[in-house]
Amino acid sequence: MNSNGTSPVGGRPDYGIDAPGVRRGMFIAGCAGVAVAIGARFTGWLGSFAPWISGLGFVVAAYGLFMAAYMTYGSRIGKLRTREKLLDLASALRPWNGSEVVLDIGCGRGLMLVGAARRLKTGQAVGIDLWRAEDQADNSPTAAQANAHIEGVSDRIRIDTGDARQLPYPDGSFDAVLSNWVVHNLPDANDRQRALDEMLRVLRPGGVLVLADIAFIGEYRSYLSSKGFMRLQFDNGGAEAAIMGALSGGSYRPQALIGVRR
Ligand SMILES: C[S@@+](CC[C@H](N)C(=O)[O-])C[C@H]1O[C@@H](n2cnc3c(N)ncnc32)[C@H](O)[C@@H]1O
Repeated sequence: MNSNGTSPVGGRPDYGIDAPGVRRGMFIAGCAGVAVAIGARFTGWLGSFAPWISGLGFVVAAYGLFMAAYMTYGSRIGKLRTREKLLDLASALRPWNGSEVVLDIGCGRGLMLVGAARRLKTGQAVGIDLWRAEDQADNSPTAAQANAHIEGVSDRIRIDTGDARQLPYPDGSFDAVLSNWVVHNLPDANDRQRALDEMLRVLRPGGVLVLADIAFIGEYRSYLSSKGFMRLQFDNGGAEAAIMGALSGGSYRPQALIGVRR
C-alpha cells in the first residue's frame, strides 16, 4: 500500500525507452561493425588490410552493442533506481509530510511524477510535457496515466501539456519541482536558462528542486548558484557516470543537482 492509502493494481509500469533514435543508431552501428569484422576476417576481400579493418569493425561492434544494451538497461531498470535515490535526496534535504504539491517538468511517461505521488498522502503531483517522440518512445498523457494506475496513484496526479520554457503556473505554486533528463533537449543555452528560470519562478521559497540530466549539469550549477540558491547539492553520479561520460565523449553523464530555494 502507498502512503496515500491506495494499493498498486499490479503489473509492471513501462517508463519507456529514452532517446529511441540514438539507441537504434547504436544498435545498427553495432550490427554493421559485426558484419565488417566477420566479412573482412573471413572473405579476405581487403587483402593485407583485412586484419585492421576487421579489428576496427570489432571495436565499432563492441561499442555500438554495449551502448545500445546500456541504454536499454538504463531505461528499463536503472532509472527506477535513480528515481528513488533522487527523491530520497530531496526529502533528506527538505523532509516531506505528504501534503506537498509537486511539479515534474518533462514528465514523459511519468517516472518522477508517479514516484513523487507514491510519497504523497493529501498532496498532488502535476506533470507537464511537450510529448516529443524523439526524446522518449510513446510518451503521452495516456501512458503516464496508465503507469500511475499500475502504481496505485491515479488519484494523486494531474497531467498538463506545456513548454518548460513557459510554464502555465503562478509564481511560487509548488513545494517541489522535479525535472529528469529534459533540459539537455534544448540545444540553445538561452532556452536552457529560460527553463531554469521557470523552475525557480514556480518553486515557492523553501521549496526543493531536483534537476537531473545527462549533460550540462555544470552549466546549470553555475547558473543556479548565481541566482542565489542555497544548500545546492551536487550528485556526480559516481563511477557509472564517469565511465559513461568518458565512453560517450561527455554527452551521456547522468548527474543531478538538489537544492532549496531561498
Ligand atoms: C528523455 S525524456 C525523460 C522523461 C521523464 N522525465 C523520465 O525521466 O522518464 C525527455 C522528456 O522531456 C520532454 N521535453 C522535451 N523538451 C521539452 C520542453 N521544452 N518542455 C517540456 N517537455 C519537454 C520530452 O517530450 C520527453 O518526454
